[in-house]
Amino acid sequence: MNFVPYNATVAKREPVKYTLVPLNADLIPQVAEIERQNFSHPWTEAMLTSQLDNMLASIICALGENGVVLGYAGVTVVAGEGYIDNIAVRQEYRKQGIASELLGVFLRFAKAQNLHFLTLEVRVSNTAAKQLYMKHGFAQVGRRKNYYDDPKEDAILMTRYFGENIPEFDQEGGIVQ
Ligand SMILES: CC(C)(COP(=O)(O)OP(=O)(O)OC[C@H]1O[C@@H](n2cnc3c(N)ncnc32)[C@H](O)[C@@H]1OP(=O)(O)O)[C@@H](O)C(=O)NCCC(=O)NCCS
Repeated sequence: MNFVPYNATVAKREPVKYTLVPLNADLIPQVAEIERQNFSHPWTEAMLTSQLDNMLASIICALGENGVVLGYAGVTVVAGEGYIDNIAVRQEYRKQGIASELLGVFLRFAKAQNLHFLTLEVRVSNTAAKQLYMKHGFAQVGRRKNYYDDPKEDAILMTRYFGENIPEFDQEGGIVQ
């Protein structure tokens, strides 16, 4: 179900215009919709609503001129460490740099706040997401066996380090031991 009508054909012809805004209650139905479209265990509207009061968490949205949420990303920061909770872009608006813009906000925040790292899990088969993270300096630092359900799959743990003592990485993004 679409909460706001949008025209994917127009979006593909010319780069879509959007602004980055913090998640608010009005946008939650759209974010929950994108969650359902992309993940087998999506965040519900109730879970997203609880994030509005979570002082450690932030979700930002790419909001199109027509009021459509094009994509969003969430981060939780605990003890100087940042955990990317979720990131997704509507299929019609992918490959236009929206995820990079969203991620860029958290990368700048992480540097400004002297976070040790940003980290996340991604399905082994999710090439697009892995390429996105590698493009932004995330390295594959570990693997969690059978981490995901529906379908069952391993997770790759990807981390972008900041500051000193940054490990050396090989061409696949693995840490050189
Ligand atoms: C992964 C995802 C968020 C990328 O969003 P996007 O807005 O299309 O990404 P961008 O346009 O910013 O792309 C940035 C880089 O990501 C990589 N990338 C994006 N889509 C890709 C694809 N289909 N195949 C390979 N690499 C891809 C490329 O390196 C790209 O850089 P380039 O354009 O210079 O080649 C989007 O595909 C998505 O929502 N997927 C479903 C949800 C999901 O899997 N989220 C991640 C959970 S861990």
